[in-house]
This record gives sequence, C-alpha cells and structure tokens, in this order.
Amino acid sequence: MSTGFIHLLEPGEPWLDSKGEMIQAHGGGVLLHGGRYYWFGENRDVSRKEAKVLGVSCYSSTDLTHWQDEGVVLPTVYDNQDHDLYFTQVVERPKVIYNHRSGEFVMIMHIDSPDYKYARVGFAFSQAPDGPYQYVGSIRPNGAESRDMTVFQDDDGKSYLIYSSEGNATMHVAELSDDYRSLTGVYCRIFEGQYREAPAVFKYESKYYMITSGCTGWKSNEAQWAVADSMLGPWRTLGNPCVGPDAEKTFYTQSTFVLALEERPGSFVFMADRWKPDNLRDSRYIWLPFKFTEDGQIEIRWETYE
Ligand code: DGJ
Repeated sequence: MSTGFIHLLEPGEPWLDSKGEMIQAHGGGVLLHGGRYYWFGENRDVSRKEAKVLGVSCYSSTDLTHWQDEGVVLPTVYDNQDHDLYFTQVVERPKVIYNHRSGEFVMIMHIDSPDYKYARVGFAFSQAPDGPYQYVGSIRPNGAESRDMTVFQDDDGKSYLIYSSEGNATMHVAELSDDYRSLTGVYCRIFEGQYREAPAVFKYESKYYMITSGCTGWKSNEAQWAVADSMLGPWRTLGNPCVGPDAEKTFYTQSTFVLALEERPGSFVFMADRWKPDNLRDSRYIWLPFKFTEDGQIEIRWETYE
C-alpha cells in the first residue's frame, strides 16, 4: 500500500514472511532497535489442536514490509502443567522494550488461564532483541487483575504497564521499576467503569495518547482515543479516531499497538488485528498510517493517507 509517506503491506491480505510463510504475530507490537524493526506477537499456528498458542514470535525488517522470521523466541511449554506458559494457557499481546540501563530486552505479556480468571502479566528477558527470552514469572500488578495490556516507554526511559483490570471495567496505568522487573507501586485508575481493552499508547509533542477498544471478546467495536499530560493522568477521552466506512467497527479490527515513525515526527502507524476466532492463525493484520494535523487531531482511515 503506498500512502504518500510510507509503504505498508496491504491491510487484510495474507502477509507473508521472506520465506513465503504466513506471518504469525497477532496482538503484537514493534520495537525499533539498531535500525531494525522487531515485530513480536502471538504465534497461533498451533500444531496441537488443544493448544492456544505456540508462543511468541519475532520477525525483523528494515522497511516494515519485508519481514524475516526470527523464530518463536518464547515458546509455550508442554511438560509442566503448572507453568504459566503451559500450552493450554493464554499468552496474549506480548510487547518488548529495551532497557538502556541494564542492556536487557524485556518482554511483557498477558498470561491467563483458559477461563481468563488467572488475569496476570508475565515477564521475560533477553540479551538480544531476537531472543531467546527467559521467562521469569507473572504478577498481579499492585494486587489487581491484568488482562489486555501494553507497555509504554517514555523518552527518559520511564516505562509504564497499561492493563484492563477490575473485571475489565477499569484500566490501570502502573509505573515499572527502573529495571523493568517489577512495579514501583505508583498507579492510577482510568476510564472507570467504561470496559476498555486493547490499549495502544503513543506520545506526540509532550502529550500522551491512548487508543483502546471496547470489550466485546473477539468481535470488533468502536475505538476510542484519549489524551493526557502525564501517563498517570488525568486522561480525557476524545471519541472515535477512525473515519469513513466501518469506522464504528474500527474497520473490523481491534487495536494492538501504535508505532511512532521516528524519522517522521507526527507520523504513526495504527496496528490492529482482524480476528478470526474460529481460525485465529488466519487472523489478519491491518496497519494504517496516520498523522497529526496542525490542530492536534488524528483521523485513522482505511484509505491511503496523502
Ligand atoms: C479481546 C482481547 O482483546 C483479545 O486479546 C482476546 O483476549 C479476546 N478478547 C478473547 O476473547
């Protein structure tokens, strides 16, 4: 897709890696490190029918269109049913950030039981972006449930965990400690009682923005964006950022990440999943570029952006 300012793969079409295999990186996020993009996501190409997920995959690219398979960098486990990564468990929405102080790559993800009652967040660490990642365990952040989540790293390295909590009714934003291995205990509650999930956070001109979906399982719904002067709030909702046909269903997708294009300040890519609940392996990727207008607005459109 030619957008006038960035070339992306065709939204909704099967996306293939450099070997011609379908890319398995659902609920994913992208890390730019050393001039290379690393895309992490759920590998749903399960060979055993009862397995939820094969693990977390990594793909790398220099241009966001040609993706090299770096393998399953955090596999699920088959020999220990008490393990968080046991193959019947839920492992969703993995995100990776780089800790400049420790030199570690930190993967943070939603860990759950098949009934989604375990509601925790898991941590894994690696010395290289493309793994392997060592899983260290999961927590309930500040004692609270954590389901759909993301991680946001600020310019100064301060990082935050953003997650649906309290039966998914309210989101929390919690500070990560400097080593990204625990939480500081400082957190805020946002969108109280609004049932938001699938958070994706980005920053522009000193303000923080968050796109979320509603809470309707695998079915799509209307997205919402919000703004704050601090990650710890207060957050002010701004309505639906999507415009055009099917905007009220987020073009039949659900948000997973917003990628800031570092060389093009003010330009971003909205990354979303078009889920196929009966065949999650074949869920599609919808990446739509958007730009801030001079008066600080965004419009996410299916059409190419000129
Ligand atoms: C919506 C979430 O955003 C997905 O990540 C997944 O947990 C589904 N719900 C499960 O129904």
